[in-house]
Amino acid sequence: MRVVVLEDESAVADAVAAHFASLIRRKPDAVLGLATGGTPVGAYQRLIELHRRHGLSFRQISSFNLDEYLGLDEDHPQSYRRFMNEQLFDPIDIDKNRTRVPPGRPDDIRTACQRYEDEIVAAGGIDLQLLGIGRDGHIAFNEPGSSLASRTRCTTLAATTILDNARFFGSEDLVPRAALTMGIGTILDARQILLMATGSGKAEAIAGSIEGPVSSRVPGSALQLHPDVVVYLDAAAAHRLEYLEYYLESERTHRSLGLLPFP
Ligand code: GLP
Repeated sequence: MRVVVLEDESAVADAVAAHFASLIRRKPDAVLGLATGGTPVGAYQRLIELHRRHGLSFRQISSFNLDEYLGLDEDHPQSYRRFMNEQLFDPIDIDKNRTRVPPGRPDDIRTACQRYEDEIVAAGGIDLQLLGIGRDGHIAFNEPGSSLASRTRCTTLAATTILDNARFFGSEDLVPRAALTMGIGTILDARQILLMATGSGKAEAIAGSIEGPVSSRVPGSALQLHPDVVVYLDAAAAHRLEYLEYYLESERTHRSLGLLPFP
């Protein structure tokens, strides 16, 4: 796992966008795994800027989002499909037919989940999967207790997640109780995973994910089993890491050896 600790939220957004842009330039038809929540918004804004000012093109890109609330129509103000359209897809030149978000109102839940898995495989697998993390360590909507081998399925939101996401809905009562989400096993199939976190509220989940035991108690800890994970953190999200000095030193060493592909 490569752990990159940066000064603040803005530096994290820059680094994540640069990482995506580098892949897109190298592989213009890359398959991206995308995330929602407050954390990636800054990085998406940077990507929009790179598209507008520097001609970064998404024309041949395909994407799969991690999850969607169950019961929300695509145009519901809090649906993840609408979030992605507004925060990234509408302002860039991506072909929306090649963007996938799990359906919020599937005819049949099991069929829809299997179809999502099949579509990822048919697209050739995900090249780079972006992840945020919940305060309770969830990735996508894989809450504590999720199988580390889980696939795309319907999950129940944990109480802390309902509370955290109530800010988007205006009230806890309005937050859907269930979601369709890629499983942890689905996420681990991506060729590279990029986890981003900012703010002290994420510090414990980050420490548990990077340094804690691999356990369904902290779903993010499953990332320790993947061979190519890059974690971008601001200082606040990193402050509970026991080996922080080591990660900083490791970055310096790799940089001096010319081993870092990204700034
Ligand atoms: C949501 C999403 C996750 C996201 C997490 C953190 O519940 N399902 O994919 O990583 O919460 O959200 P935020 O970035 O707003 O803190």
